[in-house]
Amino acid sequence: MKKAISPELGREAMLALLKTRSPLGPLKAMAKHVGRFFQIPIPGFRPYVVFGPEAARKVLVTERNKLRWRNTDPVTDLLRRGVLVTDGDEHDHYRELMEIPFQPAQLSKYTDMMISQTERVASTWQNGQIVDMLVEGRKIALLIIMQTLFSKDAWNDIPKIWDPILKTIQYVSPGLWILWRKIPRLGYGKSLKTIDDYLYSIIDERRKEGRKANDFLQHLIDAGLNNDIIRDQMLTMLIAGHDTSTALLAWTFALLGEHPEILADVIKEVEQAEGKPQLLDNVIKESLRLYPPIHIGNRRVAEDIEFTEGTVPAGERMFYSIYLTHRDPEIWENAEDFCPERFSHGRKTPPMSYIPFGGGPRACIGAAFGQAEARIVIAYLLKNFTFEFTGHPIHAHMGATLEPRPGVRMQVKRTNQCATSDQ
Ligand code: HEM
Repeated sequence: MKKAISPELGREAMLALLKTRSPLGPLKAMAKHVGRFFQIPIPGFRPYVVFGPEAARKVLVTERNKLRWRNTDPVTDLLRRGVLVTDGDEHDHYRELMEIPFQPAQLSKYTDMMISQTERVASTWQNGQIVDMLVEGRKIALLIIMQTLFSKDAWNDIPKIWDPILKTIQYVSPGLWILWRKIPRLGYGKSLKTIDDYLYSIIDERRKEGRKANDFLQHLIDAGLNNDIIRDQMLTMLIAGHDTSTALLAWTFALLGEHPEILADVIKEVEQAEGKPQLLDNVIKESLRLYPPIHIGNRRVAEDIEFTEGTVPAGERMFYSIYLTHRDPEIWENAEDFCPERFSHGRKTPPMSYIPFGGGPRACIGAAFGQAEARIVIAYLLKNFTFEFTGHPIHAHMGATLEPRPGVRMQVKRTNQCATSDQ
């Protein structure tokens, strides 16, 4: 049974909104008082929210056929037939083609490129300069994803595509359109066209060259997809594959900056470790737990779906909350604390309670890639620079991803003067 929302809860939710400067505060208040199943009480916007392992298993695995990924949001307008916003056979066809470059066996071939793109960005930093790791992380993630997907060196294109990319991300971020779907979206057209023109020009160039690169773009061309469908998959991967990594890099630097003792241990580890650095890995996992870049999954309910606490009727919108699952005190000890140690002794939480990459057949295509990228980029930077957090307040902003705002300002100093791009 759905519980009624009391005036006290309304007040607490409002206070939480003011305190956290984000809808995450009220969501947490709702979760605390109402439980793992509730409806957001905003007139004109009443989606159901579910969280916890039972909900995740139903939504992602056992009852996913009752749900549609394709919604009526700007993200569908933007991505058109992209793999993220299609269902059924159409989705499965794209997904099969798109998975190939991201299979675990492929990942090691990206390591050197990830390091050299990181060094290129870092080489622009002055010693002692204060840089924003949200911005620098995005540059690194953009260069890496463009090179990986399209074998495209985007270094010289960054000034041209930077603002249009940010605008594109803003286009799909929560806004007034949630309450008024038909609200005129002024000021986006030019940026969206710049990105479209850019992607179509990459496709044209490749078709003209006839070059047989073994990359994502080539798989789509070889599969006989037309330019519009290829553009839809390219844009999907460009946004899904770099905005998430940007958030992960930035949050991890923010958390390390706020916990200098853990940062010191990670530096010691990356300087000594051969192979996979365990503490850094746990730090990245904990960063994804506390600040999952994709904090909710957005679904349209096609057939009634039942949970222990109630039923979401067909036709409704439903979110499964990764953020609330990751902070559920019934699952996680000291759920609000940054504690990488919790991942060091094997998993002690129930299955489907740690889901930063979703789960089931539509789990993230880039999960292994995204984690490897974060590990490689962060290890490289910590080996070659010191990072001192300037200590400013940071809050979680619900954009297309969960972002640390107003950024993560850190003072950087190069420690290894001999670093070169082929290290
Ligand atoms: C740290 C980085 C990343 C995080 C936290 C992340 C998170 C997620 C999550 C939670 C989902 C499932 C959403 C849902 O259930 O509605 C997802 C799906 C997806 N992700 Fe990622 N992602 C990351 C990196 C990447 C990268 C690097 C790529 C591409 C190279 C990528 C491409 C995709 C695609 C295409 C889907 C849709 C899959 C489908 O519907 O079949 N992601 N991601």
